[in-house]
Amino acid sequence: MEKSRKWKLFLGAGILAVYAFASLLAFWRMPERAAAWSEDTVPKRIALTFDDGPYPNLTRQLLDGLRERGVKASFFVVGENAKAYPDVIETMYEDGHLIGNHTYHHVQLTEVGEEKFKEEIRMTNAVLSEITGETPTFIRPPYGSWNKKYEEELNLFPVLWTVDPLDWCCNSSQCVYQRVVTTVKENDIILLHDCYETSVTAALSIVDSLQAQGYEFVTVDELLLE
Ligand code: NI
Repeated sequence: MEKSRKWKLFLGAGILAVYAFASLLAFWRMPERAAAWSEDTVPKRIALTFDDGPYPNLTRQLLDGLRERGVKASFFVVGENAKAYPDVIETMYEDGHLIGNHTYHHVQLTEVGEEKFKEEIRMTNAVLSEITGETPTFIRPPYGSWNKKYEEELNLFPVLWTVDPLDWCCNSSQCVYQRVVTTVKENDIILLHDCYETSVTAALSIVDSLQAQGYEFVTVDELLLE
């Protein structure tokens, strides 16, 4: 064989080897790159829920803050409060938040007997559907006490929570904020009450902090109905 031909063959084989090695390397690293991509682009979802309202000033303050941040939350309202402040419910509805039932008088449902159990829920649904034109499909039973037996008849789906900072026993918004941000993870349902100024302030700081970490706030139906 001629010297230059040999040299060409040698060069060709070398290029081929480098190419094969690079392809192999790219193939090996594919799952790693796919994982990094999904981490960067698919947001971690989380739900903020507020019980016991509406309270005219605090709930409005909260709604303003959520609107500024483009966040949708879920409100489990007490029927008698909704009746007293229908305009707050209207804003809540127009802003796209989920509105759920939290009984009419904030009763522990399993303690009141079947008739009252159903009445507390129906009265609240009636008030809410009169204001928004929509009947709630979710209930957060006060104290988490529920009886599955009536679920189908009432056509309501109970929603509990996965993170409870016990905001009612925090004397500062920092306390509520810390308890939430240090424990929260993807798909959590956070329980707060919009009747405390500390919780309203904390909720907005929680949103700012978790949005910066790539969380997306959704209503509970999006987490539960999939
Ligand atoms: Ni409650």
